Amino acid sequence: PALGLLAPTPPMGWSSWNRFGCAVDEQVVQQAADAMVASGMRAAGYRYVNVDDCWMAPVRDAAGRLAADPVRFPHGIAALARYLHDRGLLLGLYSSAGETTCAGLPASLGHEDLDAATFAAWGVDYLKYDHCGSDAETAPARVQAMAEALAKTDRTIVLAVSDLGQNEAWRWGAGVGAQLWRTAPDIADDFASVLSILDRQAALGGYARPGGWNDPDSLEVGNGGMTEAEYRAHFALWAVLNAPLIAGNDLRSMNQDTARILLNPDLIAVDRDWAGVSGRLACTVGSVQAWVKPMSDGSAAVVLLNRGASPAEAGFAARCLGLPANGPYRVRDLWTGQQRETVALRYGSVPAQSALAYRVWAAR
Ligand code: GLA
Repeated sequence: PALGLLAPTPPMGWSSWNRFGCAVDEQVVQQAADAMVASGMRAAGYRYVNVDDCWMAPVRDAAGRLAADPVRFPHGIAALARYLHDRGLLLGLYSSAGETTCAGLPASLGHEDLDAATFAAWGVDYLKYDHCGSDAETAPARVQAMAEALAKTDRTIVLAVSDLGQNEAWRWGAGVGAQLWRTAPDIADDFASVLSILDRQAALGGYARPGGWNDPDSLEVGNGGMTEAEYRAHFALWAVLNAPLIAGNDLRSMNQDTARILLNPDLIAVDRDWAGVSGRLACTVGSVQAWVKPMSDGSAAVVLLNRGASPAEAGFAARCLGLPANGPYRVRDLWTGQQRETVALRYGSVPAQSALAYRVWAAR
């Protein structure tokens, strides 16, 4: 039973899926947790360590309970939860609202109460609930059954609907007791995937709010398939969307560039700030889009995304940012930290396939 709001800000953490898929094991998860602490990610707000599909054994135990895969999780999930809790981290686990998970392993349909009780007894803090075997008609009731089962336990467990955005869960997710809902198909480690997911978010900003967030899927930053500029754009866009910031890379071997992106304090602050609405596509000039989010201090967070193949000048009026038509303005570059005061909003050139990120205040 939750006293405060669950997920008052978009959850931050790491998930095994994008990088490890079904090759996840307890050593990988523990090492990811250690890296989260050592890299400064925990201090920056990353808390959830989410084990995705394939943690479970192919059959339930004699008592009908889900059991951890004995080879890849020999010490079981409760021990893993203790490992994480001892380090100030939280455990996320995965199941599905069907007979089987998307990888074909046992899932929770018809076992909601027992599985929720099992997760709670193990110390689980977050449940990603997939859709395989479910559809638009059955999904809301199936998610609700799990939400109610979780509410009967003695733990507060965040419930994240994961249905590829197929069932418009942004319309009903909060109503049935979920805190997150996917708004897009599975992300892939390429910029075309980031852009196609982004396009699906344009009309969904109004469905986000503290305690109920749109989830455009976890991050691919650092997985190697995009340029550094593309990863920066990916991260900045997820921040203005108030997306959960769930890293999906191998934290044990991430380089400085990747760490700098994931640890960007200004963008994390944008992601966690709430002034009533998440970021939206505010205006477009040529190949450059301005994704803008009002901040609670009256400033605007703005990501200038150049989707074209060549550099482009971006000149957006203050109106586009929701700021007074007359300057001066204070402009902070959220990648360099450079701040300047200016009368006219000029951003300069946005390189191809990349994004600039700013915070702009009316200076008077
Ligand atoms: C679905 C989800 C993914 C991942 C896999 C696991 O595709 O959308 O995020 O959890 O299942 O099988």
